[in-house]
Amino acid sequence: MSRLVVVSNRLADPRKPAAGGLAVALGESLQRTGGLWFGWSGNIADNTADGEGHLHTRSSGKVTLATVDLNQNDYETYYEGYANSVLWPVFHYRLDLADFNTRYLAGYRRVNQLFARKLKALLRDDDIIWVHDYHLIPLAAELRALGCRQRIGFFLHIPLPPALMLAAIPQHEWLMRSLFSYDLVGLQSEADVSHCIRYMTTEAGAELLADQRLRAHNATVQVRAFPIGIDVQEFRRLGQSQDALDTYESVRREYSRRQLLLGIDRLDYSKGIPQRVRAFSELLERYPDNEHSATLLMIASPSRDSVHAYADLRHELEGLCGAINGNFGDLDWMPVRYIHRTVARRRVPGLCRASRVGLVTPLRDGMNLVAKEYVVAQDPDDPGVLVLSRFAGAAEQLKDALLVNPYDTQGMAESIQAALHMPLEERQRRHRALLENITRFDVHWWRESFLAALGASSP
Ligand code: G6P
Repeated sequence: MSRLVVVSNRLADPRKPAAGGLAVALGESLQRTGGLWFGWSGNIADNTADGEGHLHTRSSGKVTLATVDLNQNDYETYYEGYANSVLWPVFHYRLDLADFNTRYLAGYRRVNQLFARKLKALLRDDDIIWVHDYHLIPLAAELRALGCRQRIGFFLHIPLPPALMLAAIPQHEWLMRSLFSYDLVGLQSEADVSHCIRYMTTEAGAELLADQRLRAHNATVQVRAFPIGIDVQEFRRLGQSQDALDTYESVRREYSRRQLLLGIDRLDYSKGIPQRVRAFSELLERYPDNEHSATLLMIASPSRDSVHAYADLRHELEGLCGAINGNFGDLDWMPVRYIHRTVARRRVPGLCRASRVGLVTPLRDGMNLVAKEYVVAQDPDDPGVLVLSRFAGAAEQLKDALLVNPYDTQGMAESIQAALHMPLEERQRRHRALLENITRFDVHWWRESFLAALGASSP
């Protein structure tokens, strides 16, 4: 059997708390198959001015981890720059936050070339290579330029925006053309697939063949949706851990007379966190029965804080939370509890289970795995309600959540009120339907269906 080689910028690090959905999902998925996982070490090395990062390898279970360091300049231009100040905002429909500094592109190309060179030295002829996310879009083109002939698939964990929005990236033609070096491109949702096909046929002159195959530049690539899932069994096991049970008990005790609403995100402008706080404020204003009762617990883990837009968001949120607590709070009740720290993953199931409402309200999100974790953590006899943004990729699958528009403050306040008062029978019915979908389309389904399609693609 061929070896699976996974490439991503971020790897799961057992020594540190999980940083986002990609690392968690890949970490759990790869433990099943074994293989090689290649990416950035997370370290910035000061003595690698030539850009040739040192290669470190170690094993974690059945997986060999091979990582390279980045130098300061590459970190700034590739990671903070092109990946997180160009691609991340544009792909999340935030042209207003994009910074098209010309220095960034050179760093992005340099690191993709560095990854290609380092990886090629580790490859076997019959490896199957699976590249992940927006940091590494041109990686297959760089590998092909070095003579690699293996099958290479790509999965984008974030949304793919409409064609005209993509066209705002000065190098969009080069970027999208590089997708033709892959045999298969996987996206999170059908909406993303239709954006990609439209871009390729209108902007890149591609011909659309059967089975969502696109032909241009003497190459054919198939584009399909593979919505990512969670490891349901693993998350359940985590829910049985002593930490999860202790967390559940202590939160339940503390909020025994209160209704808890929970949000867990990276502190990112795509997550709609200020919009959520405004909707919560509107809830307290419009429905005073929630005073002294509803409490919003928001855990926003620090993320990319050296990028300006993230620092701005942090200040905005601190102001908003201070204002709502000042306006509504009382000696024995603070409506918002905002924590700008990472909470240990093993406590997450307990927090989810202890909350009456899970608020997952991004302005745009590739999938959002917290939505799925919230559902799995619930007690099926007395489940909480998932309030989910229609702009999360997960909304295509999780139709039995209460779907909301996070830009509509009043509408979201009404939905939260409905969630807080939803009769038990309706909560159980929705929970059953959501759980069935999440269990069926779990992370193993995702990996297996992607790899089966990659194996079947014409090399
Ligand atoms: C999202 C991205 C991932 C990324 C994660 C955490 O989930 O799709 O590629 O790893 O955010 O962000 P960071 O910049 O810390 O890797």
